[in-house]
Amino acid sequence: MTLISVDSVAFGYSRKEPVLHDVSFTVKKGVNLGLVGESGSGKSTILKLLLGLERPSSGVIRFEGQPMNLNDREFMRRYRRAVQAVFQDPYSSLDPRQKVEAIIAEPLRALKIPGDHRAAIEQALADVGLPVDAISRYPHEFSGGQRQRIALARAIVARPQLVLADEAVSALDLSTRIRIVDLLKDLSKAITILLVSHDLGVVAALCEEIIILEKGRIVEAGRTEDILARPQHPYTRKLLASVPRMPA
Ligand SMILES: Nc1ncnc2c1ncn2[C@@H]1O[C@H](COP(=O)(O)OP(=O)(O)OP(=O)(O)O)[C@@H](O)[C@H]1O
Ligand SMILES: [Mg+2]
Repeated sequence: MTLISVDSVAFGYSRKEPVLHDVSFTVKKGVNLGLVGESGSGKSTILKLLLGLERPSSGVIRFEGQPMNLNDREFMRRYRRAVQAVFQDPYSSLDPRQKVEAIIAEPLRALKIPGDHRAAIEQALADVGLPVDAISRYPHEFSGGQRQRIALARAIVARPQLVLADEAVSALDLSTRIRIVDLLKDLSKAITILLVSHDLGVVAALCEEIIILEKGRIVEAGRTEDILARPQHPYTRKLLASVPRMPA
């Protein structure tokens, strides 16, 4: 089932150079998707469009078949409930003045989700492998990897269908990275993941499908195993050769 479709989307931050050209892809329920490309290729920009933080200059993004309309509050509420995000830096993405409980509860409050928030928060902590007593502590009391788990707990607490993860693992050392990728793999039994990364190895370990982006254009897309076995585009070959592979 198609969750999100991106159809011929172009985008530029100003009237100068566009940074995305004719980008089309679909995110299917249960199929983790990796978005790979060099720095500046437009990966985070695609996530901003998917989050409704920017609007396409042309083309359309649909959620469950319905064109995204930032002015339609009912639609956006449904969309935000279904699509959550985890950002790059586990140090800056958590408010240092808030306890973990309040940090993780944020989507529940923002989405005005009724019910027992405490129970949902405890479940989310358990899902990401953190102890329940983390709830009353502050972000600075945790390591980088643990902070990334807190950010993930916040992303999944409202039980979204899709989590957008922007370089969620790049700021971490290798062994922590492997543990977080394992965790994402575990979570992806219930939640689809769109993972942005420079690192083809990380993406290959988690994603069934891959999109390769070069200078704002999709140069190759398809099943991960096909692309790794038979990269068609010279840029993909270059990425495959230059990127250190993570043990799967
Ligand atoms: N807020 C902004 N204003 C103007 N230009 C921007 C802005 N954010 C990004 N850009 C430009 O858009 C292009 C794509 O940037 P983007 O951040 O999407 O790349 P990326 O693939 O996420 O790179 P990285 O791997 O370094 O995170 C780049 O040329 C960048 O300089
Ligand atoms: Mg980026």
